[in-house]
Amino acid sequence: MKDIFDKLYNKMGPLGMHADDAHGYFTFPKLEGQIGPRMNFRGVEKLNWSLNNYLGLANHPDVMKADSDAATQFGMAYPMGARMMSGNSNYHEQLESDLASFIEKPDVILLNFGYQGVVSAIDALLDRHDVVVYDAEAHACIIDGLRLHLGKRFVYKHNNVEDCEKQLVRATKLTEETGGGVMVITEGVFGMSGSQGKLKEIVALKEKYNFRLFVDDAHGFGTMGKTGAGTGEEQGCQDGIDVYFSTFAKSMAGIGAFIGSEPNVIKFLRYNMRSQIYAKALPMPMVVGSIKRLEMMRTQPEHKENLWKIVHALQGGLKDAGFNIGITTTPVTPVLLNGTIPEATHMTYDLRENYNIFCSIVVYPVVPKGVIMLRLIPTAVHTLEDVEITINAFKSVKSKLDSGDYRKETLASVS
Ligand SMILES: Cc1ncc(COP(=O)(O)O)c(C=O)c1O
Repeated sequence: MKDIFDKLYNKMGPLGMHADDAHGYFTFPKLEGQIGPRMNFRGVEKLNWSLNNYLGLANHPDVMKADSDAATQFGMAYPMGARMMSGNSNYHEQLESDLASFIEKPDVILLNFGYQGVVSAIDALLDRHDVVVYDAEAHACIIDGLRLHLGKRFVYKHNNVEDCEKQLVRATKLTEETGGGVMVITEGVFGMSGSQGKLKEIVALKEKYNFRLFVDDAHGFGTMGKTGAGTGEEQGCQDGIDVYFSTFAKSMAGIGAFIGSEPNVIKFLRYNMRSQIYAKALPMPMVVGSIKRLEMMRTQPEHKENLWKIVHALQGGLKDAGFNIGITTTPVTPVLLNGTIPEATHMTYDLRENYNIFCSIVVYPVVPKGVIMLRLIPTAVHTLEDVEITINAFKSVKSKLDSGDYRKETLASVS
């Protein structure tokens, strides 16, 4: 008989296979010091473009004070238990009500984590008679939620509304046999390309087909729309989103998440989402701190304005310098270059060690073979000077890449 662990040792998986070369540098890097555009990496200060701290709230003094005052008052443990049993509080309910008015949905349920929340919401909302139509590039939490779905699912080509309609036709037909309903699932902002889900066009399909729309707006909440209420607000179709999800992991710079919907759906989720019924409620500092963050988002538009000032400068500057930044219409800024994985590692190493710029590097299989994506996340606390330094550094490494300076057989050695 085999030892269960044998196969793990021999096959570390698509990311784990690079662990010996990359660990601590390309994977699991440690960014130290206060969260912000300047952080230390291996003891040296870097200009950092790799955090989803869009609005710069992570270590805003008022946010840190709210978090630490709540920790002093309540500790990290309170409340103990799941919301349903012993873990509810007025603060949890206040945050839900504040979020509901902010996103203009009648009701909201707070979630202790986003990933588990989406998995569990999909599991709770759908039964085996229901059919799902979903975007091919949906986030892992959506894909993993669909693994629990016992009914049929049809995937449509990424952001292709025509194909979405084709799959809706198939799904609608199938429900005539199963007796179930149809749910379309997509994202508000796709976190790699920065493109927006075509929410308005999908909502328009409701005139022809009967379905509910679930949107994961992790990157859109706080960054998109006039008030920051997200991609539905941006596209003028918030009402057409039946289940609106976002996480606190990005604009809110915290932990936790929420779903907004009509009261009966939220009531159903409160009593049927396994990730909430069988897991501890969000700790009080995170809840009180999130109330503060939301109040700042609502009353201090300057954070979003600063973000977009940096987004326009960075994306405009990169385009003017001849870089391909794909089809982003959001703060997510991919820089697409051509090269091999070893070239990507040597270029990133150069960028980090000699230009002191830290950003994420994305290679095959996330992007096609031969493409290198350097992914920049601008925030409200970057400066125009940061943008200028970065564009100059990018010009320099791109010209080295084009002239073959990084052409090597092996990955950059980072020990
Ligand atoms: C699109 C998307 N959905 C869901 C999640 C999961 O959220 P959380 O980090 O709160 O688990 C993330 C990552 O944070 C995300 O990018």
